[in-house]
Amino acid sequence: MKIILLGPPGSGKGTVSEKLEKDFNFAHVSAGELLREEVKKGTTLGKDIQKIIEKGNLVPDNLVTELIKLEVTGKKSFILDGFPRTLKQAEATAELNINLVIYLEVPEEIVIERFSGRRVCSTGEHGYHLKYLPPKKEGVCDHDGTKLVQRKDDRPEVIKERFKIYHKETQPLIDYYKQKGILKTVDASPNPEKVYAAVKKVVQELKKK
Ligand code: AP5
Ligand code: MG
Repeated sequence: MKIILLGPPGSGKGTVSEKLEKDFNFAHVSAGELLREEVKKGTTLGKDIQKIIEKGNLVPDNLVTELIKLEVTGKKSFILDGFPRTLKQAEATAELNINLVIYLEVPEEIVIERFSGRRVCSTGEHGYHLKYLPPKKEGVCDHDGTKLVQRKDDRPEVIKERFKIYHKETQPLIDYYKQKGILKTVDASPNPEKVYAAVKKVVQELKKK
C-alpha cells in the first residue's frame, strides 16, 4: 500500500508514521528527515538545504522529488510523510500510483502549542512531546538511547513562515487528492492515541478491499 500523510506542520505526520511503520511494516519515507540527513553530511548541498530549512522555506521541487523517487524505488509499501508539498511535486510523482492520502486536519492554535514541547532524538528518527508523548527516561530516546534535542526550525518566527508556506503551497493538495477520490480526512486534534486509532481504522478498511 502506498500512503501519503498530508497535514500542516506539527499535525502529527511523523508520530503517526512511526506507529504505522511498526504495525504494518510500511517503510517510513520522511521528506524532512531525508533533507536533514543531507544537512548532517555537511556537503555544499547540505549547507544550502540547511539555510532553506532554517528559514522555514521549501527546498526546490526537483531536488526533493528526485530524493523521494530514489528512496521509494523498489518499495511496495510506504508512507510518504511531508511529500508532496506542492502541486508540482504531486504531478511529478503521479506515476507512484498512491492508494490513499490521509489528511491530518487540525487547527493552527492546537499545533502551535505542540512545537514548544517537541523533542526529537539525535538520529532524528523518533519524536516525543514533553507533555503529550514523553520518553520513558527524561531527555533520552526510548528506542536508541540518544539524547533528545529541539529542532532548529521549531523557533516561533520559523514556525510562522512554515505555516504561511503550508497555506499557499500545500493546502491546494487537499482538493487535488479529493478530486482523485483517494483523500480521507482524520481529525488530528485529539491525543496521539486517538488520532492513531482513527488513522489505523482508515488503513485497515482499505486493506480489506
Ligand atoms: P518536516 O520535517 O516535514 O516538517 P513539517 O511538515 O513542518 O512537519 P513537522 O515534522 O514539524 O510535524 P509533524 O506533522 O511531523 O508532527 P510531529 O509528529 O512531529 O519538514 C521540515 C522542512 O524540510 C520544511 O519546512 C522544508 O523546509 C523542508 N521540506 C520537507 N519536505 C519538503 C518538500 N516536500 N518540499 C520542499 N521542502 C521540504 O508532531 C509534532 C509534535 O506534537 C511532537 O512533539 C509530537 O510528539 C506531538 N504530537 C503529535 N501528535 C500529537 C497529538 N495528537 N496530540 C498532542 N501532541 C501530538
Ligand atoms: Mg515530521
